[in-house]
Amino acid sequence: MRNEITAEQLNAEQFIQEKVREIQNSVGDGTAVNALSGGVDSSTVTLLGHRALDGRLKTIFVDNGIMRQGEPEQVVRLFKGLGVSVEVVDARKEFFNALKGITDPEAKREAITQTFYRDVFGRMVRASKAKCLLQGTILTDIDETVAGIKRQHNVFEQLGINPQEAFGYRILEPLVQLRKDGVRKVGEALGLPAELFGRIPFPGPALAARVIGEVTPERIETVRKATVVVERLLRGRGAFQYMAILHEDRVTGMRNGRRDFGQQIEVRCWDSVDARTATPTSLPFNILQKLAADILQEVPGVVSVTYNIASKPPSTIEAV
Ligand code: XMP
Repeated sequence: MRNEITAEQLNAEQFIQEKVREIQNSVGDGTAVNALSGGVDSSTVTLLGHRALDGRLKTIFVDNGIMRQGEPEQVVRLFKGLGVSVEVVDARKEFFNALKGITDPEAKREAITQTFYRDVFGRMVRASKAKCLLQGTILTDIDETVAGIKRQHNVFEQLGINPQEAFGYRILEPLVQLRKDGVRKVGEALGLPAELFGRIPFPGPALAARVIGEVTPERIETVRKATVVVERLLRGRGAFQYMAILHEDRVTGMRNGRRDFGQQIEVRCWDSVDARTATPTSLPFNILQKLAADILQEVPGVVSVTYNIASKPPSTIEAV
């Protein structure tokens, strides 16, 4: 594995030139497929790949049903503006079927990984006759997987899995020497709008990483609605990442004068540079009160809202 390039060491222009050359060498005169989720890493890799391969790179957005509100449409529109056409693949049923009945966090991550790589991308790559899948794995993903903290959805070789044998295609990971702060510099240099390169990180397993217990379309809808509130109120305050988490256990609440054994949403908001360590943002109490009021108002079935005040480690940024 190649060495880390820190954001301070990084010369973005030189990095882009090198990676463009490497991608061209690896793909030769063939074609490649790339998976865009709209996050910082996959957006950066999409532009890098198009700079290297132009029309020989097919960019896919997999609608897995566990993304944030309006995300597929927003990503397609933003990339259209950058001259990249994105094909949306509707795989919602497939993902929910794969997640049915699973409550263990690693088993959930594994179900998502297999559905993405073996099933959906496997089909796409075979249909397009591409040899490679280009993706935005970064160093932090690998660190945490190797350390056994969390199996990141996009890490294989470090776990002894050969994608060629397991899925029938090669995986190219041009950002694997960088961390989030370095990726942002590369994204900016490639011309990604601030709306994209400045976006808060969002995990590959998407909202499924924020549902404790079984992931169902209904439970995703609950956490999705809470996410809308959290992002609306916490955007622009300089935090590294913020999120809503749906808990599994219920608590007694009251609604319209009656007992309501309802659901609980936990809000997390993190200060961090590179996601390796993180501390909770010291939010003003009136913002916390507004978060609670708006979530209780806008998310049906929720009777409790809490704010996480533990640091990483021992916490992690996502709940699953
Ligand atoms: P954790 O929860 O491990 O997260 O403290 C560290 C950073 O990584 C993001 N994250 C992921 N990103 N695939 C990804 O691409 C994943 O499976 C995944 N899990 C967590 C998380 O949002 C945070 O920024």
